[in-house]
Amino acid sequence: MRIRCRENGPLVVAMPVEVVDHLGNPFPIAREKEFVALCRCGASQRKPFCDGAHKGIGFIGAELAPVEPTPEPSNI
Ligand code: FES
Repeated sequence: MRIRCRENGPLVVAMPVEVVDHLGNPFPIAREKEFVALCRCGASQRKPFCDGAHKGIGFIGAELAPVEPTPEPSNI
């Protein structure tokens, strides 16, 4: 599974994935979807899914994953 953090936006998860509530009941997701976007700004009216509200509130979320350091060239 791969979860992509969109810059200033939702967490995007490739299908197939099941999203369940705190009781374990699944949220309906259309079968033809290629991905689901999960709200991480807190402003969506369709939580846990993103509804685009992050744009209106100016959500900032641009965290970057650590990058592996480039190995030093050897002094042979
Ligand atoms: S991330 Fe899109 S509405 Fe919250």
